[in-house]
Amino acid sequence: MRNYLIAGNWKMNTTISEARDLAKAVSKSAPHNGNVIVLGCPPFVNIQAVAEIAKGTHLKVGAQNCYFEKKGAYTGEVSIDMLKAIGCDYIIIGHSERRAIFCESNELINKKVIAILASGLTPILCIGETLDERNAGKTFDVLKTQLDGCLAGVAVEDIPKVVVAYEPVWAIGTGVSATSNEVSEAHAWLRNYFVDKCGDFTAKKIYLLYGGSLSDANAKETLAIDNVDGGLIGGAALVAEKFITIINTAVELAGDTGAAPSCCCGCK
Ligand code: PGA
Repeated sequence: MRNYLIAGNWKMNTTISEARDLAKAVSKSAPHNGNVIVLGCPPFVNIQAVAEIAKGTHLKVGAQNCYFEKKGAYTGEVSIDMLKAIGCDYIIIGHSERRAIFCESNELINKKVIAILASGLTPILCIGETLDERNAGKTFDVLKTQLDGCLAGVAVEDIPKVVVAYEPVWAIGTGVSATSNEVSEAHAWLRNYFVDKCGDFTAKKIYLLYGGSLSDANAKETLAIDNVDGGLIGGAALVAEKFITIINTAVELAGDTGAAPSCCCGCK
């Protein structure tokens, strides 16, 4: 029996009516099975509407970013408490688009991780190498620097409350997913990183998601790989039928139904 977290990153897509339609379709397919958590992360302005639709269903709602300060003069930013108040359980942080386009550093992302954990929400921390870094043989150095930097100061017992999404930058939005061997190698490396950091028992509780052109077509192969505990899905999450196929694939691979719900702290 396996646990999966299937997360849709809607990015800067969906008007409010499109967001409602997508949420309605997906929420109907979010399984009762506690082994598979389904999450939708709409743009900020649509979160509340999606959370209202998700109420009473098994669809969870998340945001795509936040600021780490509580409140104040930070024009254009959104606080974690604001997101919590409208029904968010998860917040994606450190996405490669935010790192590349909005110049987010590991130091800034680290402040967000710490603030999100302090608020009792679950950060989905994105990491991943560029194609140049991969071609230069630096993939694992890059992942280590990102993890060390973004998780600095997080207590060992809090580490499983962080969901980690491995998203090779070259696979995002390109239609070219990493191969099964590449995913398998990276996820085994990640699990070992956490075994070294917090021991075998704790490391196993961490959700390690894969992201980067994950679709209905390759979900079965990717989600079956050892140490892959779900996916962070962009393009395919915007098409209800594709996302639902990915959810159903996870349910099938998870095996059992009617299991006890996953831990509420974010870990498996
Ligand atoms: P993609 O995006 O599935 O469209 O590649 C994934 C992501 O950016 O999280």
